Amino acid sequence: MRTYTRGKTSLFKPAPEVKALQGISFEVAKGGRLGVVGESGSGKSTLLRILAGLDQPTSGSAIVAGNEVTGAKEQQLRELRQNLQIVFQDPMGSLDPRMTVGQIVSEPLLVRGRNETSTERTAMVAEMLEAVGLPAASASRHPHQFSGGQRQRISIARALICRPQIVVADEPVSALDVSVRAQVLNLLADLVDEYGLTLVFVSHDLNVVRYLCDSVIVMQSGVIVEAGDTETVYRSPQHPYTKRLIDSSLTLRQELTGVA
Ligand SMILES: Nc1ncnc2c1ncn2[C@@H]1O[C@H](COP(=O)(O)OP(=O)(O)OP(=O)(O)O)[C@@H](O)[C@H]1O
Ligand SMILES: [Mg+2]
Repeated sequence: MRTYTRGKTSLFKPAPEVKALQGISFEVAKGGRLGVVGESGSGKSTLLRILAGLDQPTSGSAIVAGNEVTGAKEQQLRELRQNLQIVFQDPMGSLDPRMTVGQIVSEPLLVRGRNETSTERTAMVAEMLEAVGLPAASASRHPHQFSGGQRQRISIARALICRPQIVVADEPVSALDVSVRAQVLNLLADLVDEYGLTLVFVSHDLNVVRYLCDSVIVMQSGVIVEAGDTETVYRSPQHPYTKRLIDSSLTLRQELTGVA
């Protein structure tokens, strides 16, 4: 359960409470790919932030790679981040414009307990940039010199450089031009395969989730209304809300197949 208290609107009434998440329970097997779909405000980002230790549930627990995230200390969270990395929606907002791409991508390596030399880090950055389809020379440039799709490739390189087991992605392509979405999704799908990642992928679009994920949970107003194997949910949605989501995402599927 995660509740938020809205600002007080009246002197005499208690501040209203928003139940961002309620009664949520799910598991992702190692190497599994879970999609989380739901419309704006359904609690998707809150759920991801809890998994990543960036937010704490009001009650309940979250176990990631065998460790309890709820109430974890800073040191434990640092270890968690070696295992779990996040890719955010907005590739500009999540990349520090003053840093070079090399500094951005290598940042997750600069934690206590890792002992790569600076030469080794440079080589790892070059390798990772190439893995996401960018020239190694990009390392000396700054984020604003890249397009949205390229910036999201940089975010993916940073997320993968410390070889996490788990990647959580919060609408990683929804801020991108339609023309590059499919490319970035293909890249993510390839890397998830290659590195055997466990993926938790948030989207308001069930078609995107269908493309990447083997199971799905559908969220509405902080509650899971439907869950199961992606193909089954997609082919025979049980909940009216899921049916609506499928209808509203048909256009994006056309766009994706148009590019592929
Ligand atoms: N820091 C916060 N303070 C107060 N309320 C919050 C906070 N974060 C989220 N909420 C509320 O919790 C609910 C779920 O928000 P959340 O951001 O998880 O939704 P979402 O599914 O990610 O939406 P979107 O698709 O727009 O990203 C919303 O009602 C939101 O207003
Ligand atoms: Mg969100």
